[in-house]
Amino acid sequence: MRDLVFATNNAHKLAEVSAILGSQIRLSGLKEIGCFEEIPEDQSTIEGNALQKARFVYEKYRKDCFSDDTGLEVAQLNGEPGVYSARYAGEACIAENNIRKLLDKLDGETNRKARFRTVVALILDGKEYLFEGIVNGIILTEKHGDGGFGYDPVFQPEGYSQTFAEMSMVLKNKISHRALAIQKLTDFLTT
Ligand code: IMP
Repeated sequence: MRDLVFATNNAHKLAEVSAILGSQIRLSGLKEIGCFEEIPEDQSTIEGNALQKARFVYEKYRKDCFSDDTGLEVAQLNGEPGVYSARYAGEACIAENNIRKLLDKLDGETNRKARFRTVVALILDGKEYLFEGIVNGIILTEKHGDGGFGYDPVFQPEGYSQTFAEMSMVLKNKISHRALAIQKLTDFLTT
């Protein structure tokens, strides 16, 4: 059995990823390794942020670890909000404000193509690996559904007539950007 740290404080993410990784990997979160400080996340790319978090844990705790970082990339906005997805409408803003800003910027636009992109950065015995998960879709003109979080109510994945916020969590977790990236990590770790 391999021990691995997932650089997250989100217990829900930890449980979900732990279930995907299976019994060959014993997963710990930041709390379990005694890391209670805020990990810097100030790079200008999704890859940069994912690597920054994983390197922080590896350098300080000398434990094999991985981290994830996600952004919503909108074609008509040259990839915005991207790495700034969490704070698109300003520091400490809420999802509602981020969605409002996005819908205002796309007002009247016909090209509404967007994608969610997750990058997982893994450090194993000091070596770095990146895994990417992408879900293509479109940004609707108004919110639909009240499940999920973040931009879910306005993001409709390709091949579906519901937004992420209208889907069951089981379905979203099967097809999501995060699930795809974590699946690649799992395949790498278990083969
Ligand atoms: P994180 O890197 O997972 O913290 O994601 C950064 C930001 O991207 C979040 O604060 C959300 O605004 C957005 N985001 C990430 N994943 C999702 C998702 O599955 N649905 C909707 N928004 C998401």
